[in-house]
Amino acid sequence: MNFLMLVNKDNALSKTYVPDNLVNADSKYRDNILVADMVYKNFKKMASDMNDLGYNIDIMSGYREYIYQEKLYNKSLNDKGFAYTFRSIAKPGCSEHQTGLAIDICVYKNEKCYVEHEIEDMEEDTWLRNNAYKYGFILRYPKGKEDITGYNYEPWHYRYVGKIAEEIYFNNVTLEEYLEKYCK
Ligand code: DAL
Ligand code: ZN
Repeated sequence: MNFLMLVNKDNALSKTYVPDNLVNADSKYRDNILVADMVYKNFKKMASDMNDLGYNIDIMSGYREYIYQEKLYNKSLNDKGFAYTFRSIAKPGCSEHQTGLAIDICVYKNEKCYVEHEIEDMEEDTWLRNNAYKYGFILRYPKGKEDITGYNYEPWHYRYVGKIAEEIYFNNVTLEEYLEKYCK
C-alpha cells in the first residue's frame, strides 16, 4: 500500500475503491470501525504509550466507504450549509477516510468522551501534536495551513504516512507541500 497516497479536493478516489488491508480497530467508541492494518498496529502502540502517561484515546472514525461519505456530506450540506461543509467535510471520493489511512481520535477523560474541537489544547491533544510522528502519523489539517489543505483546522484528524511522518513534522509542512517540494 502507498502510505503517501494523496487524497484531497483535487485528487479523488473512485467510487469503488476499497483498501484491501482493512482490520477491525477494536474501538470502544463504536463497533466495527475499520482501518488499514498498519494504522491499527501503530495506533495501538501510540495509545498504549499514552496510557502509561494517564491519557486515554480511541478511534471514533476510520475507514469510510464512498456511500457513507456521501451521506455525511449531504447531511452537512442540509444541516450546516455550503460554506461550512466546503471547509469541513470532503465530497465523496475526496475523503482520505476512504483510504483506511485516516483516523479521527477522541479522548476519554473524567468519564466523558471528548470529540472534534472539544479536544483542542487538551493535554492529550498537545501530546499527539508533538509525538504522533513517532508512530507514523501526521496532523493532516493543521492550523495556519487551511489554504493548502482546503480544510479548517481539525485537531482530531490524523493520517498514517509511515516513516516520512518525522520529516513532515520537523519541516512543519502538509502532505501536499511534502509531495510537492520534498519528494520529487
Ligand atoms: N473532515 C475530513 C476533511 C473528511 O471529511 O474527510
Ligand atoms: Zn477525519
